[in-house]
Amino acid sequence: MKTNSTGHQPGQVKNSHLTNNAQAAEAVEALSTVSLRCVECAALYPGIEVGASPRYRCDCGGVLDVETKFSRPRSQSQTTPSLNEYLNFETDSDQVPPAGAKLRQIFDERASIPPIWSTSADKLLLDHSGVWRYRELILPAPEQYIVSRPEGNTTLYPVGMENCGPSRVGHRQIGIYAGLERLFLKHEGENPTGSFKDRGMTVGVTMARLLGAQAVACASTGNTSASLASYAAQAGMRGIVFLPAGNVAGGKLAQTLAYGATTIQIDGDFDAAMQLVEQVCAELDIYLLNSLNPFRVEGQKAIGFEILQQLDWQPPDWLVLPAGNLGNTSAIGKAFRQAYELSLISHIPRFASIQAEGANPFYRSFKQGFARREHVQAHTVASAIKIGNPVSYTRARRVIEESDGIVEEVTDEEILAAKRVIDCAGIGCEPASAATLAGIRKLVGRGVIKRDERVVGILTGNLLKDSITGIPQGNDGTMVEATIDAVRKVLLA
Ligand code: F0G
Repeated sequence: MKTNSTGHQPGQVKNSHLTNNAQAAEAVEALSTVSLRCVECAALYPGIEVGASPRYRCDCGGVLDVETKFSRPRSQSQTTPSLNEYLNFETDSDQVPPAGAKLRQIFDERASIPPIWSTSADKLLLDHSGVWRYRELILPAPEQYIVSRPEGNTTLYPVGMENCGPSRVGHRQIGIYAGLERLFLKHEGENPTGSFKDRGMTVGVTMARLLGAQAVACASTGNTSASLASYAAQAGMRGIVFLPAGNVAGGKLAQTLAYGATTIQIDGDFDAAMQLVEQVCAELDIYLLNSLNPFRVEGQKAIGFEILQQLDWQPPDWLVLPAGNLGNTSAIGKAFRQAYELSLISHIPRFASIQAEGANPFYRSFKQGFARREHVQAHTVASAIKIGNPVSYTRARRVIEESDGIVEEVTDEEILAAKRVIDCAGIGCEPASAATLAGIRKLVGRGVIKRDERVVGILTGNLLKDSITGIPQGNDGTMVEATIDAVRKVLLA
């Protein structure tokens, strides 16, 4: 076991959750509408328990899901009805306008305000965050506790044969490869630390602050660790990350160390690191920030809300994404379910979760009609989805079943071929993200996705994550004399 620590005192680990009475009262009040529901046995727990360690699992061992009751505000003296009133499912008043229309209006207003950094109040920065813009549907945290870079606002690239404009012939190659007229790629690698993880991390670290935590930890193959390290540094907390030795891209390790997190490389794979971090967090009372933490999933829902907003609230026919720990399948599925329940949208897209053939436990379960939960020893070049025992299995299963979705597998060769197409189009992504395009191509080829259907695919991470896998090597430019003649010879050869 190798350790490396910067910035914080070695003993600064143990959290003392909610020992400050005033903060405890504020936290309990803020989260009074939030509960945690076991996805296995449906047991219900409060969102926050003063004096107790944070809860990540049910007593039965099941994973927990955040359940928010959108309720009438406590203060009845307000003259203007608050947003919560519009969200009140239980209202008996005919006067309350439909929640969906009102929410769309509020979210669109927030998105239309350009940020003017030097003069912006914090509230405006929250409106500019692609997570906190939707805060009523994410977490009712008091604003002074929110830790935001801000994040989100990632591009939704139109890359289909029909919806890609003539100035983007390179991007159109992706649509041709997929065989789709109307294809969009949502690039979550454009988040501040280079992956979608920032969406969940802003919410997770906000919860950590609200709970009075001083240290946060995760197991990671790189992206989660970089994100945790960045947000912990911003919040002035100690970040601790467990990495499977030899399985983390160099750039991600560098990022994590640079942000000052304590880095522990363990002699084992991601699944082993995940098990260990859960034990360590329980024993040392460190706040756990893997996607086992139900509040991280709430932040990742914002990917779904932002896609809908970018499509003017017209949901696509299909949502296609890579599947490892199944956090995104769960989160984006939940976002669409809530958007539908709140009448923000009129239908829920079908989900296609794509696994690597050598790391395919979810695919194996799907093939048996989810009769059995499968585990595998994972092997794939796509390190971010090299996961054999996905934490969010039950949550993701619900999404596939509810959306009449599908789980597909693709080989490493198919992943690398798709990555080359995305890279050469000038967009680029890390290997796991390319499973999305490989999966789309396969499903279109099989006639599952129809050529004229509207499809959104998620690219989860940035090209810079992995400078080896799928990147042409040994060809870093021809060395020539610094003369025009020498250059001419190379270019005109
Ligand atoms: N894509 C990227 C770029 C990832 O970093 C991860 C997970 C996934 C997909 C899988 O996500 O839960 O939605 O199936 N990365 C973790 C990490 C393991 O430690 O950074 P999911």
